[in-house]
Amino acid sequence: MTQILIIEDESSIRKALSLGLDSKKYQIDTAENGKDGIQKATNKKYDVILSDLCLPDINGLEVIKTIKACSPDIISIVITGNGNIESTKSAIRLEVNDYLEKPLSINKVHDSLQKALKQRDYKRNKQRRKIIEIVESYNKNSNKSMENKLTKRNSNEDVSMLVHQINNPLCCINGSAELGMLNLDDKDAIIKFFKDILTAAKKINHINRELLSLNKYEERPKEVVDIKTLLISSIKMFEDLMTIKKVSLKIDLNQYDEDEKFVLGNKFDIEQIFKNLILNSIESMEESVEKWIKIKLELDREGTKILIHIQDSGSGITADNIDKCFNKYFTTKSHGTGLGLSVVKRVVDNCYGSINVTSTIGKGTLFTIQLPVYNLI
Ligand SMILES: Nc1ncnc2c1ncn2[C@@H]1O[C@H](COP(=O)(O)OP(=O)(O)OP(=O)(O)O)[C@@H](O)[C@H]1O
Ligand SMILES: [Mg+2]
Repeated sequence: MTQILIIEDESSIRKALSLGLDSKKYQIDTAENGKDGIQKATNKKYDVILSDLCLPDINGLEVIKTIKACSPDIISIVITGNGNIESTKSAIRLEVNDYLEKPLSINKVHDSLQKALKQRDYKRNKQRRKIIEIVESYNKNSNKSMENKLTKRNSNEDVSMLVHQINNPLCCINGSAELGMLNLDDKDAIIKFFKDILTAAKKINHINRELLSLNKYEERPKEVVDIKTLLISSIKMFEDLMTIKKVSLKIDLNQYDEDEKFVLGNKFDIEQIFKNLILNSIESMEESVEKWIKIKLELDREGTKILIHIQDSGSGITADNIDKCFNKYFTTKSHGTGLGLSVVKRVVDNCYGSINVTSTIGKGTLFTIQLPVYNLI
């Protein structure tokens, strides 16, 4: 739903606009002065700011300018009762989307909003197409250069990496099947467990296809990846296993409300980051009294990197092992292959990101991944 912030000091106009636009199915917030408006726009993401020109504290154009400094994509519409040529000119210079004179009618405002929203969507779609073109041309070029490296490639290494990746969905299948056995009388639960098993089986299918195509290796194409959605679907795969292992999950995605940002990478590969880290966390908590995993997404201050934090209350990693844990084949587990974190590192490097780990023995471990994000608009 389109989110609109109305900044208007005259309460009758503010209320009339709010009620009228609410009836047109917009989501409305209001502010009665410039300071309050800036504060609200700092705390929440709006699509449109509809501001009176003459506010009691700050000039409406200044308010828009301040908000636009942080949200350059926001649509701005100025309302005025005493428009003059000078302020009209500076409004245009600031690129406000429209300029409406009082008295206002809801239809007039609605028309102006629709026009501005259409223009914004057109601009975004154009930008999206451009990004997709860039990604496609990147993929074409990188495939060409990969062909040259083909002979040097150690395909055994790829085979072991892929076989390792089968472990994650297999763990999910085991977890769902065990829960199913415990809930044989609950038809709805059984349906859910079967669905989870099918999802995990599809993953294994996918990995098999990758294995079969190894002898004609191509770098997996980069694509526009919506990290939040991918993270949520990866977490879902582990829900049953976490229930069995009595591990609680705290997810904080509120700091990352960015529909227009994306990571450039391969979805299948990035999924492996989440799955390997979550599975390691679950496995580290066998002996723990407290069993929790916290997952948090946020944007760095500059808005150029997404930070993904995955923290657990598990056994922790010793200082000696922390330096080795990303090494291929390094494992402290009797059943481990020691490939999980090396896959994670390889994928993070391919996305031009970085990964950091801090750990306290007996308390737990925190992995933080930074990946560059790009704007869709
Ligand atoms: N969250 C964690 N808590 C404690 N130790 C960890 C954690 N993540 C990784 N480790 C340590 O790092 C080692 C390497 O992890 P990695 O995922 O690469 O391999 P593995 O889990 O041992 O085996 P595999 O992933 O192949 O099943 C682990 O054996 C473990 O000692
Ligand atoms: Mg592992």
